[in-house]
Amino acid sequence: MTVPIHLLDKYNSPVPRYTSYPPANHFKDTFTTDNFVQALIDSNKMQPENLSIYIHIPFCKRLCFYCGCNKISMVEDNAIKKYIDALKTEMKSALSHIDKSRLLSQIHFGGGTPNVIPVGYLNEITSYLLSEFKSIENPEVAIECNPAYLDREYLVALNKAGVNRFSLGIQDFDQKILKSVNREIPEIPVNELVEMIHDINPKAVINFDFIYGLPGQTVDSFSSTIDEAISIGPDRIVTFSYAHLPSVFKAQAALERKGLPSPEQKIELYLNTYSQMKSNGYVPIGMDHYVKPDDELSLAFSNHLLHRNFQGYCTRRTTGQVYAFGISSITQLENSYFQTTKSIEQYNESINQGIFPIEKGYILQPHEIIVREVIDELMCNKILDFNILAENLKIEKAEIKKCLTIDKTSLDTFAADGIINYSEDRIEITEIGILFIRNVAASLDPVFQSSVMNYSKSV
Ligand SMILES: C[S@@+](CC[C@H](N)C(=O)[O-])C[C@H]1O[C@@H](n2cnc3c(N)ncnc32)[C@H](O)[C@@H]1O
Ligand code: SF4
Repeated sequence: MTVPIHLLDKYNSPVPRYTSYPPANHFKDTFTTDNFVQALIDSNKMQPENLSIYIHIPFCKRLCFYCGCNKISMVEDNAIKKYIDALKTEMKSALSHIDKSRLLSQIHFGGGTPNVIPVGYLNEITSYLLSEFKSIENPEVAIECNPAYLDREYLVALNKAGVNRFSLGIQDFDQKILKSVNREIPEIPVNELVEMIHDINPKAVINFDFIYGLPGQTVDSFSSTIDEAISIGPDRIVTFSYAHLPSVFKAQAALERKGLPSPEQKIELYLNTYSQMKSNGYVPIGMDHYVKPDDELSLAFSNHLLHRNFQGYCTRRTTGQVYAFGISSITQLENSYFQTTKSIEQYNESINQGIFPIEKGYILQPHEIIVREVIDELMCNKILDFNILAENLKIEKAEIKKCLTIDKTSLDTFAADGIINYSEDRIEITEIGILFIRNVAASLDPVFQSSVMNYSKSV
């Protein structure tokens, strides 16, 4: 597959990542603890019926220059305990408003680096949640880990805590690249960590995270990294396109000085990775995920049943309304989002006073829920079929179209550039088009069309 260079010039523009709809920079700061409680109560009657729980552990031992996550530098032991106590209080108060007959389908520890805190805290949290709710069969308990801080003892304890999905943030196997972005080098090689995980739980799902577009990465160097990943053979491999937004993440400016790859080089890195993955039997799903053919995400993709939330891709089985705990975390309900404060001091203080420290939120109007479904379909399943969606949402397809900014000239241009195939009732993203899905989604999105916001570029 090749991508004509003129497409890059044309489409490499700032567009939302669409990890939520509307994107988080549209959230408003007018929401209170009372609004949140009411939303929790209302959510009991909403869809999806299952519960997905996100817990944010913000601490990191060393801050990577490229990082776009909500993290803070590691604190001393008693400050960690104080945060975990506040987390438990927050969960307890929120759970008092949630209908306990609903089933728990997913627990996700994200960060920051959840595996830098004593594992006993993670165990207390999963034990509490699993005792409070009935779960679906084999609920997903996932954790984002920095491999530099894993060893057998920690992995055994995570297994005891019920963790069955491990996301290992590798970023690159090239130590020079890791050093230049201020990232710790794991002492135990990743292949040994994977063996340990499988030895402890042969059914555990393992995911590797990489980033392409970092200073110094070349097609050859990144291709060796991907070869190494493929030879270890995790269930899922994610290659994130480096999102550069130094106005928000100040440390990223350091990478500009080291020299970032050009958009053309990034495309080359992407295309090379794409064909390496495909020729080694991995199935590309969404924009940046590659999974083994028998993985449940691959099966969901073939049946057009893939979903996505802030935690990543999920299936209908594991998806749920997301109740999020900890600083900066985002609760994602059927018709609303609520984000907690990013300040740990304010968080601890408010929670101890019985207040949910809501920083921002958003209530979706019915037409925005429809746009969210449309964007989800494109981003996850790469096909938007208006008839199928109308049937799923139990509304007329004309009603769906009314909510979108469908501009025939833009669609014709995307089609002429080989990005989509489309007809009256269907828009399908082509293989080349995967790089520009966000542009296609943005063209249908009335909120994007009418606003000026700060986004990273599509490539
Ligand atoms: C919370 S971090 C993962 C957990 C752990 N802190 C680690 O670094 O291994 C989630 C993932 O986001 C990705 N990421 C972070 N900053 C990014 C950026 N600016 N652009 C693209 N991906 C990024 C990295 O691949 C990282 O593994
Ligand atoms: S990439 Fe992970 S370890 Fe590095 S600063 Fe971000 S959250 Fe922390």
